[in-house]
Amino acid sequence: MVTASAPGKVYLFGEHAVVYGEPAVPCAIGLRASVTAEKRDEGLRIEAEDLSLSGFTVEYDDDETNRPDIDVPNSLVDAAMGYVDEAVAQVREAADSPDAGFDITIESKIPLGAGLGSSAAVAAAAIEAGTRELGVELSKAEIAERAYQVENTVQDGQASRADTFCSTMGGAVRIEGDDCQRIDSPDLPFVIGYDGGAGDTGALVAGVRELRDEYDFAADTVEAIGDIVRRGEQALAAENIDEIGDLMNFNHGLLSALGVSSRTLDSMVWAARDAGGLGAKLTGAGGGGCIVALDETPETLTALEYTPGCEEAFRAELDTDGVRVES
Ligand code: MEV
Repeated sequence: MVTASAPGKVYLFGEHAVVYGEPAVPCAIGLRASVTAEKRDEGLRIEAEDLSLSGFTVEYDDDETNRPDIDVPNSLVDAAMGYVDEAVAQVREAADSPDAGFDITIESKIPLGAGLGSSAAVAAAAIEAGTRELGVELSKAEIAERAYQVENTVQDGQASRADTFCSTMGGAVRIEGDDCQRIDSPDLPFVIGYDGGAGDTGALVAGVRELRDEYDFAADTVEAIGDIVRRGEQALAAENIDEIGDLMNFNHGLLSALGVSSRTLDSMVWAARDAGGLGAKLTGAGGGGCIVALDETPETLTALEYTPGCEEAFRAELDTDGVRVES
Protein backbone atom coordinates (compact mmCIF):
# COMPACT_ATOMS: atom_id res chain seq x y z
CA MET A 1 0.00 0.00 0.00
CA VAL A 2 1.41 3.43 -0.96
CA THR A 3 0.11 6.88 0.00
CA ALA A 4 1.17 9.95 -1.98
CA SER A 5 0.02 13.55 -1.66
CA ALA A 6 0.08 16.64 -3.86
CA PRO A 7 -0.73 20.30 -3.16
CA GLY A 8 -3.54 22.49 -4.42
CA LYS A 9 -2.76 25.86 -5.95
CA VAL A 10 -3.92 29.42 -6.46
CA TYR A 11 -3.41 31.43 -9.61
CA LEU A 12 -1.47 34.58 -8.89
CA PHE A 13 -2.08 35.53 -12.53
CA GLY A 14 -3.16 34.16 -15.87
CA GLU A 15 -5.94 31.54 -15.66
CA HIS A 16 -8.06 31.15 -18.80
CA ALA A 17 -5.56 33.11 -20.93
CA VAL A 18 -3.08 30.26 -20.38
CA VAL A 19 -5.40 27.99 -22.40
CA TYR A 20 -4.57 30.18 -25.46
CA GLY A 21 -0.79 30.14 -25.01
CA GLU A 22 -0.43 33.22 -22.79
CA PRO A 23 1.80 32.77 -19.72
CA ALA A 24 0.37 32.09 -16.25
CA VAL A 25 1.79 31.95 -12.74
CA PRO A 26 0.10 29.50 -10.38
CA CYS A 27 1.49 28.89 -6.87
CA ALA A 28 1.18 25.66 -4.89
CA ILE A 29 -0.38 26.06 -1.44
CA GLY A 30 -0.22 23.92 1.69
CA LEU A 31 -3.61 22.30 1.24
CA ARG A 32 -3.10 18.72 0.04
CA ALA A 33 -4.91 15.78 -1.51
CA SER A 34 -3.70 12.32 -0.42
CA VAL A 35 -4.27 9.19 -2.44
CA THR A 36 -3.63 5.67 -1.17
CA ALA A 37 -3.31 2.89 -3.73
CA GLU A 38 -3.42 -0.79 -2.82
CA LYS A 39 -3.23 -3.59 -5.37
CA ARG A 40 -6.25 -5.85 -5.76
CA ASP A 41 -6.85 -8.76 -8.10
CA GLU A 42 -8.79 -6.80 -10.67
CA GLY A 43 -10.95 -3.72 -11.23
CA LEU A 44 -11.02 -0.43 -9.39
CA ARG A 45 -12.72 0.54 -6.15
CA ILE A 46 -12.53 4.18 -5.04
CA GLU A 47 -13.31 5.58 -1.63
CA ALA A 48 -13.21 9.32 -1.19
CA GLU A 49 -13.53 11.42 1.92
CA ASP A 50 -13.63 15.17 2.45
CA LEU A 51 -13.79 16.19 -1.18
CA SER A 52 -15.35 19.44 -0.01
CA LEU A 53 -14.62 21.48 3.06
CA SER A 54 -17.94 20.27 4.48
CA GLY A 55 -16.83 16.68 3.93
CA PHE A 56 -18.52 13.53 2.75
CA THR A 57 -17.67 9.94 1.99
CA VAL A 58 -18.44 8.16 -1.24
CA GLU A 59 -17.52 4.74 -2.56
CA TYR A 60 -17.22 4.09 -6.26
CA ASP A 61 -16.91 0.78 -8.00
CA ASP A 62 -15.92 -0.27 -11.52
CA ASP A 63 -19.43 -1.60 -11.94
CA GLU A 64 -21.74 1.45 -12.20
CA THR A 65 -24.70 -0.54 -10.86
CA ASN A 66 -22.85 -0.89 -7.54
CA ARG A 67 -22.49 2.86 -7.08
CA PRO A 68 -24.53 4.10 -4.11
CA ASP A 69 -26.80 7.14 -4.10
CA ILE A 70 -25.06 10.05 -2.43
CA ASP A 71 -26.30 13.39 -1.20
CA VAL A 72 -23.62 15.65 -2.68
CA PRO A 73 -23.66 17.12 -6.20
CA ASN A 74 -23.27 14.06 -8.38
CA SER A 75 -21.78 15.97 -11.28
CA LEU A 76 -18.87 17.08 -9.11
CA VAL A 77 -18.28 13.63 -7.65
CA ASP A 78 -18.57 12.06 -11.10
CA ALA A 79 -16.03 14.55 -12.39
CA ALA A 80 -13.66 13.76 -9.50
CA MET A 81 -14.04 10.04 -10.10
CA GLY A 82 -13.41 10.64 -13.80
CA TYR A 83 -10.00 12.06 -12.89
CA VAL A 84 -9.23 8.98 -10.79
CA ASP A 85 -10.34 6.61 -13.57
CA GLU A 86 -8.05 8.39 -16.03
CA ALA A 87 -5.18 8.55 -13.53
CA VAL A 88 -5.42 4.78 -13.03
CA ALA A 89 -5.36 4.34 -16.83
CA GLN A 90 -2.10 6.35 -16.83
CA VAL A 91 -0.70 4.19 -14.01
CA ARG A 92 -1.52 0.97 -15.88
CA GLU A 93 0.15 2.33 -19.03
CA ALA A 94 3.25 3.66 -17.20
CA ALA A 95 3.74 0.35 -15.37
CA ASP A 96 2.91 -1.71 -18.45
CA SER A 97 0.26 -3.51 -16.35
CA PRO A 98 -3.01 -3.11 -18.25
CA ASP A 99 -4.95 -5.40 -15.90
CA ALA A 100 -3.69 -4.03 -12.56
CA GLY A 101 -6.54 -3.68 -10.04
CA PHE A 102 -6.59 -1.09 -7.24
CA ASP A 103 -8.34 0.00 -4.09
CA ILE A 104 -7.95 3.77 -4.14
CA THR A 105 -8.66 5.97 -1.12
CA ILE A 106 -8.71 9.75 -1.49
CA GLU A 107 -8.51 12.21 1.38
CA SER A 108 -8.46 15.81 0.31
CA LYS A 109 -8.60 19.13 2.08
CA ILE A 110 -8.98 20.89 -1.29
CA PRO A 111 -12.59 21.77 -2.11
CA LEU A 112 -13.79 20.34 -5.42
CA GLY A 113 -14.10 22.59 -8.46
CA ALA A 114 -13.37 25.68 -6.38
CA GLY A 115 -10.30 26.99 -8.21
CA LEU A 116 -7.72 25.41 -5.90
CA GLY A 117 -6.63 22.64 -8.24
CA SER A 118 -8.29 19.67 -6.53
CA SER A 119 -8.43 17.54 -9.67
CA ALA A 120 -4.79 18.16 -10.60
CA ALA A 121 -3.66 17.30 -7.06
CA VAL A 122 -5.71 14.09 -7.02
CA ALA A 123 -4.42 13.13 -10.49
CA ALA A 124 -0.74 13.71 -9.58
CA ALA A 125 -1.02 11.94 -6.20
CA ALA A 126 -2.92 8.99 -7.73
CA ILE A 127 -0.29 8.53 -10.44
CA GLU A 128 2.55 8.64 -7.90
CA ALA A 129 0.80 6.27 -5.45
CA GLY A 130 -0.39 3.82 -8.14
CA THR A 131 2.92 3.51 -9.97
CA ARG A 132 4.93 3.14 -6.73
CA GLU A 133 2.48 0.45 -5.59
CA LEU A 134 3.37 -1.41 -8.81
CA GLY A 135 7.10 -0.93 -8.12
CA VAL A 136 7.64 1.78 -10.76
CA GLU A 137 9.28 5.13 -9.92
CA LEU A 138 8.40 7.97 -12.30
CA SER A 139 10.28 11.26 -12.56
CA LYS A 140 8.33 14.36 -11.56
CA ALA A 141 8.40 15.45 -15.21
CA GLU A 142 6.66 12.21 -16.20
CA ILE A 143 4.09 12.51 -13.42
CA ALA A 144 3.35 16.08 -14.55
CA GLU A 145 2.97 14.96 -18.17
CA ARG A 146 0.67 12.05 -17.26
CA ALA A 147 -1.41 14.20 -14.86
CA TYR A 148 -1.80 16.72 -17.70
CA GLN A 149 -3.03 13.92 -19.99
CA VAL A 150 -5.61 13.05 -17.31
CA GLU A 151 -6.91 16.63 -17.11
CA ASN A 152 -6.87 17.11 -20.84
CA THR A 153 -8.91 13.94 -21.40
CA VAL A 154 -11.48 14.77 -18.72
CA GLN A 155 -11.72 18.40 -19.90
CA ASP A 156 -12.25 17.42 -23.56
CA GLY A 157 -8.87 18.63 -24.77
CA GLN A 158 -9.21 22.10 -23.19
CA ALA A 159 -6.74 21.92 -20.31
CA SER A 160 -3.48 23.82 -19.94
CA ARG A 161 -0.48 22.29 -18.19
CA ALA A 162 -0.67 24.90 -15.41
CA ASP A 163 -2.55 23.10 -12.63
CA THR A 164 -0.92 19.71 -13.05
CA PHE A 165 2.64 21.04 -13.42
CA CYS A 166 2.22 23.28 -10.36
CA SER A 167 0.76 20.51 -8.22
CA THR A 168 3.48 18.05 -9.26
CA MET A 169 6.45 20.42 -8.84
CA GLY A 170 5.22 22.66 -6.00
CA GLY A 171 6.27 26.29 -5.46
CA ALA A 172 5.57 29.12 -7.89
CA VAL A 173 5.67 28.10 -11.54
CA ARG A 174 5.48 29.76 -14.91
CA ILE A 175 3.57 28.12 -17.73
CA GLU A 176 3.52 29.22 -21.35
CA GLY A 177 2.19 26.58 -23.72
CA ASP A 178 4.38 23.49 -23.27
CA ASP A 179 7.11 25.49 -21.54
CA CYS A 180 6.76 24.90 -17.77
CA GLN A 181 9.30 26.07 -15.17
CA ARG A 182 9.67 26.63 -11.44
CA ILE A 183 10.31 30.31 -10.66
CA ASP A 184 11.54 32.16 -7.58
CA SER A 185 8.93 33.86 -5.47
CA PRO A 186 9.01 35.83 -2.23
CA ASP A 187 6.79 34.59 0.60
CA LEU A 188 3.29 35.60 -0.37
CA PRO A 189 0.71 36.06 2.42
CA PHE A 190 -2.28 34.35 0.77
CA VAL A 191 -5.75 34.71 2.23
CA ILE A 192 -8.41 32.58 0.58
CA GLY A 193 -12.17 33.10 0.61
CA TYR A 194 -14.42 30.21 -0.40
CA ASP A 195 -18.12 30.65 -1.21
CA GLY A 196 -18.90 26.94 -0.82
CA GLY A 197 -19.70 26.68 -4.53
CA ALA A 198 -17.98 25.39 -7.61
CA GLY A 199 -17.63 26.29 -11.24
CA ASP A 200 -17.87 23.97 -14.23
CA THR A 201 -14.36 24.36 -15.68
CA GLY A 202 -15.27 22.91 -19.09
CA ALA A 203 -18.28 25.22 -19.53
CA LEU A 204 -16.37 28.30 -18.31
CA VAL A 205 -13.43 27.61 -20.63
CA ALA A 206 -15.87 27.08 -23.52
CA GLY A 207 -17.62 30.38 -22.68
CA VAL A 208 -14.36 32.32 -22.87
CA ARG A 209 -13.51 30.56 -26.14
CA GLU A 210 -16.85 31.64 -27.66
CA LEU A 211 -16.35 35.27 -26.59
CA ARG A 212 -12.81 35.26 -27.92
CA ASP A 213 -13.97 33.81 -31.27
CA GLU A 214 -16.82 36.31 -31.56
CA TYR A 215 -15.21 39.58 -30.44
CA ASP A 216 -11.76 40.96 -31.20
CA PHE A 217 -11.91 42.92 -27.94
CA ALA A 218 -12.40 39.65 -26.02
CA ALA A 219 -9.33 38.24 -27.79
CA ASP A 220 -7.52 41.49 -26.84
CA THR A 221 -8.63 40.98 -23.23
CA VAL A 222 -7.06 37.52 -23.21
CA GLU A 223 -3.83 39.01 -24.59
CA ALA A 224 -3.96 41.80 -21.99
CA ILE A 225 -4.05 39.14 -19.27
CA GLY A 226 -0.83 37.80 -20.80
CA ASP A 227 0.66 41.32 -20.50
CA ILE A 228 -0.33 41.42 -16.82
CA VAL A 229 1.42 38.10 -16.26
CA ARG A 230 4.63 39.30 -17.95
CA ARG A 231 4.57 42.44 -15.79
CA GLY A 232 3.73 40.31 -12.75
CA GLU A 233 6.81 38.16 -13.32
CA GLN A 234 8.97 41.30 -13.10
CA ALA A 235 7.19 42.33 -9.89
CA LEU A 236 7.79 38.85 -8.45
CA ALA A 237 11.47 38.97 -9.36
CA ALA A 238 11.73 42.43 -7.73
CA GLU A 239 9.72 41.15 -4.72
CA ASN A 240 7.43 44.16 -5.22
CA ILE A 241 4.38 42.89 -3.30
CA ASP A 242 2.42 46.14 -3.75
CA GLU A 243 2.66 45.90 -7.52
CA ILE A 244 1.80 42.19 -7.43
CA GLY A 245 -1.39 43.17 -5.57
CA ASP A 246 -2.26 45.90 -8.11
CA LEU A 247 -1.77 43.46 -10.97
CA MET A 248 -3.98 40.87 -9.25
CA ASN A 249 -6.74 43.50 -9.08
CA PHE A 250 -6.31 44.29 -12.77
CA ASN A 251 -6.33 40.57 -13.63
CA HIS A 252 -9.61 40.09 -11.74
CA GLY A 253 -11.20 42.94 -13.68
CA LEU A 254 -10.31 41.34 -17.00
CA LEU A 255 -11.54 37.89 -15.88
CA SER A 256 -14.76 39.57 -14.82
CA ALA A 257 -15.03 41.15 -18.28
CA LEU A 258 -14.69 37.67 -19.77
CA GLY A 259 -17.73 36.57 -17.74
CA VAL A 260 -16.10 34.11 -15.36
CA SER A 261 -16.61 35.94 -12.06
CA SER A 262 -19.79 35.79 -9.99
CA ARG A 263 -21.61 37.98 -7.51
CA THR A 264 -20.13 36.20 -4.47
CA LEU A 265 -16.62 36.10 -5.94
CA ASP A 266 -16.88 39.85 -6.63
CA SER A 267 -18.21 40.48 -3.08
CA MET A 268 -15.29 38.59 -1.55
CA VAL A 269 -12.79 40.40 -3.80
CA TRP A 270 -14.21 43.80 -2.76
CA ALA A 271 -14.36 42.83 0.91
CA ALA A 272 -10.67 41.87 0.78
CA ARG A 273 -9.73 45.14 -0.96
CA ASP A 274 -11.83 47.27 1.41
CA ALA A 275 -10.13 45.60 4.38
CA GLY A 276 -6.76 46.72 3.08
CA GLY A 277 -5.75 43.58 1.17
CA LEU A 278 -2.94 44.38 -1.26
CA GLY A 279 -4.82 42.76 -4.12
CA ALA A 280 -7.56 40.22 -4.68
CA LYS A 281 -8.82 38.14 -7.57
CA LEU A 282 -10.76 34.99 -8.31
CA THR A 283 -8.58 31.91 -8.74
CA GLY A 284 -9.04 29.12 -11.26
CA ALA A 285 -11.91 28.71 -13.67
CA GLY A 286 -14.28 30.98 -11.70
CA GLY A 287 -18.07 30.85 -11.72
CA GLY A 288 -17.96 30.21 -7.95
CA GLY A 289 -15.44 28.82 -5.52
CA CYS A 290 -12.46 30.78 -4.25
CA ILE A 291 -10.77 34.15 -4.36
CA VAL A 292 -7.18 34.77 -3.35
CA ALA A 293 -6.03 37.96 -1.64
CA LEU A 294 -2.66 39.12 -0.34
CA ASP A 295 -2.51 40.43 3.21
CA GLU A 296 -0.29 39.98 6.23
CA THR A 297 -2.63 41.73 8.66
CA PRO A 298 -5.66 39.94 10.21
CA GLU A 299 -8.13 42.42 8.66
CA THR A 300 -8.70 40.74 5.30
CA LEU A 301 -9.28 37.33 6.88
CA THR A 302 -11.77 38.81 9.34
CA ALA A 303 -13.53 40.84 6.63
CA LEU A 304 -13.95 37.73 4.49
CA GLU A 305 -15.32 35.74 7.43
CA TYR A 306 -18.09 38.35 7.75
CA THR A 307 -18.78 38.73 4.01
CA PRO A 308 -22.22 37.41 3.03
CA GLY A 309 -21.73 34.43 0.74
CA CYS A 310 -18.27 33.56 2.09
CA GLU A 311 -18.45 30.12 3.69
CA GLU A 312 -14.83 29.72 4.76
CA ALA A 313 -11.82 32.02 4.90
CA PHE A 314 -8.33 30.80 5.66
CA ARG A 315 -4.67 31.58 5.22
CA ALA A 316 -2.46 29.50 2.95
CA GLU A 317 1.28 29.45 2.46
CA LEU A 318 3.31 28.73 -0.62
CA ASP A 319 4.10 24.99 -0.57
CA THR A 320 7.46 24.33 -2.15
CA ASP A 321 6.98 20.55 -2.07
CA GLY A 322 5.12 19.08 -4.99
CA VAL A 323 3.87 15.51 -5.21
CA ARG A 324 5.50 13.26 -2.60
CA VAL A 325 5.25 9.78 -1.16
CA GLU A 326 3.89 9.89 2.39
CA SER A 327 4.16 6.22 3.33
C1 MEV B 1 -8.56 26.03 -14.27
O1 MEV B 1 -8.02 25.75 -12.97
C2 MEV B 1 -7.64 26.96 -15.00
C3 MEV B 1 -8.07 27.27 -16.44
O2 MEV B 1 -7.08 28.17 -16.96
C4 MEV B 1 -8.14 26.04 -17.30
C5 MEV B 1 -6.78 25.41 -17.55
O3 MEV B 1 -5.75 26.08 -17.44
O4 MEV B 1 -6.77 24.21 -17.91
C6 MEV B 1 -9.41 27.99 -16.48
